[in-house]
Amino acid sequence: MIHVLGIDTSCDDSCVAIINDEHKILSNVVSSQTEFHRHFGGIVPEVASRKHLEYLPSVLDQALKDAHLTLRDVDLVTVTQGPGLLGSLLLGMCLAKTIALVGDKPLLGVNHLEGHLFAIRLEYPEIQPPFVALIVSGGHTEIIAVEDWGKYYLLGSTRDDAAGEAYDKISKFLNLGYPGGPIIDHLSEGAQSNRFHFSAGLEDDGTLDFSFSGLKTAVVRCYSRLGEEEKKDKELIRDLVASFQESAVRVLVNKTFRALEMKGFSQIVVGGGVAANRHLRRKMKEEGEKRGVRVFFPSLSLCTDNGAMIAACGLFHWKKGERDSWDMEPDPRLPLVSTE
Ligand code: KG4
Ligand code: ZN
Repeated sequence: MIHVLGIDTSCDDSCVAIINDEHKILSNVVSSQTEFHRHFGGIVPEVASRKHLEYLPSVLDQALKDAHLTLRDVDLVTVTQGPGLLGSLLLGMCLAKTIALVGDKPLLGVNHLEGHLFAIRLEYPEIQPPFVALIVSGGHTEIIAVEDWGKYYLLGSTRDDAAGEAYDKISKFLNLGYPGGPIIDHLSEGAQSNRFHFSAGLEDDGTLDFSFSGLKTAVVRCYSRLGEEEKKDKELIRDLVASFQESAVRVLVNKTFRALEMKGFSQIVVGGGVAANRHLRRKMKEEGEKRGVRVFFPSLSLCTDNGAMIAACGLFHWKKGERDSWDMEPDPRLPLVSTE
């Protein structure tokens, strides 16, 4: 049995997981830094890297304990190489190199986006490409044609803010808290999403690209124009964020299904932190049922950043014979490329 260690420190979560070569998750530990970044209403890169340094040793210990293994039992070390915050990536990379060097184990760098794609494999090992993937997180909004594992075509991406970024920035401006995604998700449940009318950029432009910056500004402007009493009206604020969410989800769903039609595929996989969104999950499934298309979502803990998805992706490349050397460097802008 092969044991794969997966480390992800692309952003503000310190993640270490161990899986085996049957894609069984033996442990999956995530130490969230939300408490610290909440004070600033967003991620402060310097704080994120300092916290990774502080958290990683105990996160690694916990991952080994949960899996009932020691470092000696690890056969392969995988780590996010990018994209992400450079300082954060460096710390995960440093830990991975140390474990691999000291234990003389193979080392493999993983693309974080590709990791999000592989999250689905942990719960649905039977899933076979081709499929259209929507990766939607705090840093990414991308539609990818997955012709095969390792063979990708980027069909569309955001031209400005990522969808999760829009959630987080709106929440910050409206003083609702951080991170905005889960907060707006929660507030929107049962609210009137047709009270305000917003439209996301590039909604009907015929491309598969996105733009969320204008939508964010429209919501912020709408809030700024409210009177003081209105700003205190909790129902009104819930309706406002639900209306934002309605338009963000609408464009994500419409473009993903348009991509599916264009490619002639019959499966959709959604991944990334925003894939945890209840409204998005509902709407995607509804549309899928209407059209007889299978839509796959990872469970919530595998939507947001985690080490298990990195291990799953690394395992795939390792099986193909790929290896990285000790001079591998983190790359904050690492592109998703096909290896097939
Ligand atoms: O994938 P992830 O953990 O980190 C990145 O790679 O960016 O995604 C984090 C993003 C944040 O913007 C967060 O607000 C958003 O995912 N998010 C959500 C939900 N849970 C997390 N957005 C909408 N609804 C949610 N339930
Ligand atoms: Zn991510």
